Amino acid sequence: MDKDGSKIIFSGIQPSGTITLGNYIGAVRNWPLTAKMGRGIFSVADLHALTVRNKPSELRARTLSTFAILLASGVDPENSIVFVQSHVPAHAELAWVLNCYTMFGELGRMTQFKDKSKQHSENVNAGLFTYPALMAADILLYDTDLVPVGVDQKQHVELARDIALRFNGVYGDVFTIPEGYIPSFGAKICSLTRPDKKMSKSDPNPKSYISIVEDADTIIKKFKSAVTDSDGRIAFSPEKAGISNLLTIYSTMTGCTVEEAVSEFEGSGYGDFKLAVGKAVAEGLRPLREKYEDLMNNKDYLVSVMEQGAARAAKIADRTLARVYKKIGLFKG
Ligand code: AMP
Ligand code: TRP
Repeated sequence: MDKDGSKIIFSGIQPSGTITLGNYIGAVRNWPLTAKMGRGIFSVADLHALTVRNKPSELRARTLSTFAILLASGVDPENSIVFVQSHVPAHAELAWVLNCYTMFGELGRMTQFKDKSKQHSENVNAGLFTYPALMAADILLYDTDLVPVGVDQKQHVELARDIALRFNGVYGDVFTIPEGYIPSFGAKICSLTRPDKKMSKSDPNPKSYISIVEDADTIIKKFKSAVTDSDGRIAFSPEKAGISNLLTIYSTMTGCTVEEAVSEFEGSGYGDFKLAVGKAVAEGLRPLREKYEDLMNNKDYLVSVMEQGAARAAKIADRTLARVYKKIGLFKG
């Protein structure tokens, strides 16, 4: 809760790879909307991206472009705080403290850790394991009430809650207890080539995901080749993962309900349907893409917004960190 009683909304996104349509529909698109419910604080979580190996020049470039994407998606740096995680040292500092209040068994149960340690079996590092404690620090530093995320992050937000409750149990009301805010629809957008899997920017097959700033022709082409099924009916059901995913995307991008989308395409062939979805996405993302290109031509502006965001975030985060250090008994002369 903020001093004036308004809700605090916090979320983050890793600058790893390109930002996909899944990130957009499941998370980023909702950030400016949820920010209207109170005060929004949004971060490019670059420290989180270190759990896998990056080329330094690429990580730097992606941090800037992810920041631009947040602004292009409607996050308003006047009303919200937007910053890069590593620019506010309190995140890494609180993460260490919270590591000492997070159990080995809890971290071992995180499904993302289990999946990622299989995917990167050559590099199962300690950061990959303790990553939810860093995410808890991100959230708890700002007295966050709501955390808008896609469904894959629900377990991490619940762990942040558990850590906060455990800490408060020992030291009194230090942290606000956060809640996940998961969209009722579109919280899991699936891959275009393997519709039983979530759309992921780390997928080696670029046809499986849509980057939200790619050109209209590429977007349409990818939708034309999306994997569906062979029964020819346009219907929403668990057995029809490919078609259901396309219906979800269409309805979130156009604002219609799934039922309306189903009746709109009744009797159409899959080819026409896929083309219509591709066009709706390419058109829906056009303003974002144009704003993004403008922003990327104005690096000085982006850097100045980043600096202001970090200064505003640090003011809040440093206060929380000082409160925590005092409670746990770190000496200050
Ligand atoms: P990440 O790409 O892991 O940094 O995720 C950033 C945000 O996007 C998180 O809130 C995720 O839950 C959300 N997200 C990632 N992939 C998807 C997806 N395929 N569908 C819906 N939300 C997603
Ligand atoms: N870990 C999140 C992800 O991979 C990104 C993230 C970092 C985040 N810190 C956060 C999300 C704090 C919500 C709140 O998707």
